[in-house]
Amino acid sequence: MRAIDIIAKTRDKQTLTDEDIKFFIQGYTKGDIPDYQASAWCMAVVLNGLSKAETTALTLQIAHSGEMLDLHQIAPFVVDKHSTGGVGDKTSLVVAPLVAATGLPVGKMSGRGLGFSGGTVDKLESFSGFQVSLSTEQFLAMLKEHKVVISGQSVDLAPADGKFYALRDVTATVESMPLIAASIMSKKIASGADAIVLDVKVGSGAFMRNLQDAITLSELMIAIGRGVGRKVAAVISDMNQPLGNAVGNALEVKEAIATLQGNGPADFREHCLTVGGKMIELGGKAPTLQAAKAQLADLLDNGTAWGKFKEWIIAQGGSEEELDNPDLLPAAPIVETVPAPRSGHIAGIDAAEVGKTCVAMGGGREKKGDPIDYSVGIVHHAKVGDSLEAGNPLLTLHANSAESLAAAKARLLTAITWSDEPVEAPPHTLKIIG
Ligand code: URA
Repeated sequence: MRAIDIIAKTRDKQTLTDEDIKFFIQGYTKGDIPDYQASAWCMAVVLNGLSKAETTALTLQIAHSGEMLDLHQIAPFVVDKHSTGGVGDKTSLVVAPLVAATGLPVGKMSGRGLGFSGGTVDKLESFSGFQVSLSTEQFLAMLKEHKVVISGQSVDLAPADGKFYALRDVTATVESMPLIAASIMSKKIASGADAIVLDVKVGSGAFMRNLQDAITLSELMIAIGRGVGRKVAAVISDMNQPLGNAVGNALEVKEAIATLQGNGPADFREHCLTVGGKMIELGGKAPTLQAAKAQLADLLDNGTAWGKFKEWIIAQGGSEEELDNPDLLPAAPIVETVPAPRSGHIAGIDAAEVGKTCVAMGGGREKKGDPIDYSVGIVHHAKVGDSLEAGNPLLTLHANSAESLAAAKARLLTAITWSDEPVEAPPHTLKIIG
């Protein structure tokens, strides 16, 4: 069997056998198949897709490319969540400790930034000392002792996804339903959770641009997860504008901290309550989503979730000083507030453009393995539906050079559209499946 024949089959819209997929994934994981052949195959998948059966086989092969965790020695029921990727998406930072604060263990493997979307692992690394490369033993020990752990794409779990993920990020091969489904579900299956909530984004700042595609992707991932005996649900939400106000690694960590202290932006808090609520509902801690959300809102407001967050960050090596004083987190040398250029109502904030601007400022990667600048990014002072007078604060930019600041300002001013008429704030949660 040869890699080139498998690439040609997908290019020519022929169906791959389970053996073809096994050969390709095992070969790529071991390094026998080089990055250039794997990129060519990913591009063929982006252009021609894969069948449901091929996607399921791909998911299981990626999951089995490393260790498969059995968490039942640690806890009878473990929950997990995963986002399909968005702009300003710091949900895991809040939801993992929030759900763990109910006593339900959360064990999660997260990714780095992908395309224009940020990644939880990069955000967590804004804390000096935070360890994301955990061995299986460290992952299990954290889960047992603290009931919450987030690891990076470690060597032991789904290593094939780690390689594909970094490759897709820089070869314009992220936007593919089968590749996204296999990437997400392989990690979730390998890391052993009993219940998984999929945080599926739709809109300009997401990899799914319309609701129907988001529903199809959700149903595909739910079917793959249920096929291997996991409880799975999907929360589909709007990503036409960034989630919350902050976009950029350390800035998002600060917003997550504010949310855990009961002061976060309303849309982000509500999103965390819905995703976390679904997790504790699947985990049997609440009879309905409404009851689950009320329980979690109390834990945000009474300081319990914040306490759990601190315990978790410190246990994974993060700086206690930075937790107590978030101003010590990486800070950009230039901070400038951009005023509204006109009076009116905000009709749109192009999330993809905001995400790409943050990458261009240094907050994401242009090439595989590029270093990132944790300090840079954007804070929005107004969201779709808000009304401003000319000169009111519109955005605050955190940049590492005057050129980067000027370029970001020009891009972002064109990413925001205005209306003379009042605009209704769009609904955030669009559909819940399962
Ligand atoms: N998140 C992942 O883990 N993988 C993808 O392909 C997209 C989002």
